[in-house]
Amino acid sequence: MNPSQSPAWRALEERRKAFQNRTLASLFRADPGRAERFHIAAPHLTVDFSRHWIDDETLGLLQDLAREADLAKERKSLLDGEAVNHTEHRPAWHSALRSNPDDPSLARTLQQEQTQFLGFAQALRTGRIQGSGGEAMETVVCIGIGGSDLGPRLVTEALGRPNAPVRVRFVSNLDPDELMRALEGARAQTTQFVAISKSFTTLETLENLRAALVWLKDAGGDSIDPSHHLAAITAQPQRAVEFGVHAKRVFTFPEWVGGRYSLWSACGFPIALAHGHEVFLDLLRGARSMDRHFASAPFEANVPVLLGLLGCWYVNFWGVKTRAVFPYAQRLARLPAYLQQLEMESLGKRVDRESHILPYDTSPIVWGEVGTSAQHSVFQFLHQGTHWAPSDFLILGTNTESLDRRARLLNAFAIAQADALAMGDTVLGAARPTAVHATAPGGRPSSLIELESLGPRPLGALLAMYEHRTFVQSVIWNINAFDQFGVEVGKKLLEQRLDGSALS
Ligand code: F6P
Repeated sequence: MNPSQSPAWRALEERRKAFQNRTLASLFRADPGRAERFHIAAPHLTVDFSRHWIDDETLGLLQDLAREADLAKERKSLLDGEAVNHTEHRPAWHSALRSNPDDPSLARTLQQEQTQFLGFAQALRTGRIQGSGGEAMETVVCIGIGGSDLGPRLVTEALGRPNAPVRVRFVSNLDPDELMRALEGARAQTTQFVAISKSFTTLETLENLRAALVWLKDAGGDSIDPSHHLAAITAQPQRAVEFGVHAKRVFTFPEWVGGRYSLWSACGFPIALAHGHEVFLDLLRGARSMDRHFASAPFEANVPVLLGLLGCWYVNFWGVKTRAVFPYAQRLARLPAYLQQLEMESLGKRVDRESHILPYDTSPIVWGEVGTSAQHSVFQFLHQGTHWAPSDFLILGTNTESLDRRARLLNAFAIAQADALAMGDTVLGAARPTAVHATAPGGRPSSLIELESLGPRPLGALLAMYEHRTFVQSVIWNINAFDQFGVEVGKKLLEQRLDGSALS
């Protein structure tokens, strides 16, 4: 199915022309109810999407596009655990990790896996896991890369100061500096390494694990028994055991959990370690509430559906090549990197589900930075550059966060930027610049996403929202959001090069 041949696609091409000589400011003037109408709520967050190039007719056509792509049926297939990852013949059933799937045997397996890794996290938190010399662990170094790092690390940081008696550190890069830094102040006798790798073949992770073993020996001497200091989280337990991890310290999750969708599984272990298992379970509850919203809200009130459709609107009808994300919360500083993987690895595809080369664009380049720092680095490009990047401005609910003046100012900064991008310098009234080099044209769209707080439930809902938004776009584009063969090509080429080289 080629969506660009569909009636809704053609109608949207025409609709795009209707905005040719308009400004976003004029859309607001012509429709006083706009700000209120284009504002929807989902569990734990609201989205103001009034600063987009849309009107009721366009939104209707975008929903027609979703209907023509059979989004409701595809959504059901995803959430029911059908093999939506058709190239790898398996489901992408990460939503089952945060619900009770109907199949009792699967539910039991998932429950057991969860109980085991949460138990290990709790045992570390309470000092019941001891190193070779019988001392409780003080430092836990989590080693993983891509989806085995980005999501768990983002959430661990986003939840704020860990309440654990152990230090939780992360290492993903092969560059020795990262491991060195993670080990600063650590003692071999009280350091636990946890390898997080779905495949347990990822070169960077295994190399870092080998380096960790060398450090244990160097720093701890002969008294160190490495098996007391190693644990693994993987969908390939046999490989971890062959590597030397004791079977009792291997925690598993199903093969159908994609790397970039894995933070809800045992890969979320660092979250439970740093913040406790109740917080981890609340994260799942928040995500589950978003799953329900995605499954049941009508398209016109469905946040992931609308945001996904808006993504397609700009890529396919406005020729936009990038999109930006600006969280106005320091604890969400890693959100752009997490979304880069989620969206670009899922949607960076050039063939459709029937293996035809696509005649239309797919994933934009995703980028971003934490606000307000971003305002002093990249915002010039947004205001006056020749390209534009539809943006997500993420702010925290004003009634739940600290009453600190700076916290309130942060939100004011974000809203002011969203307005300035949309309206241009008209927002300045009489103070508007006259020199051409100083004027800002406006017309640059954004969504204003207000998240209740940085508590575990809102965070879970936010990340599940972005997962589903990504899926919606994949359905419209008729691509598989759950494989990543491009990355595999790079991995294989490296293996070939290393074969027989001095490094192998
Ligand atoms: O970079 C590709 C990738 O396969 C990602 O999808 C994945 O998150 C990452 O590598 C790490 O893989 P693993 O968890 O198997 O070590």
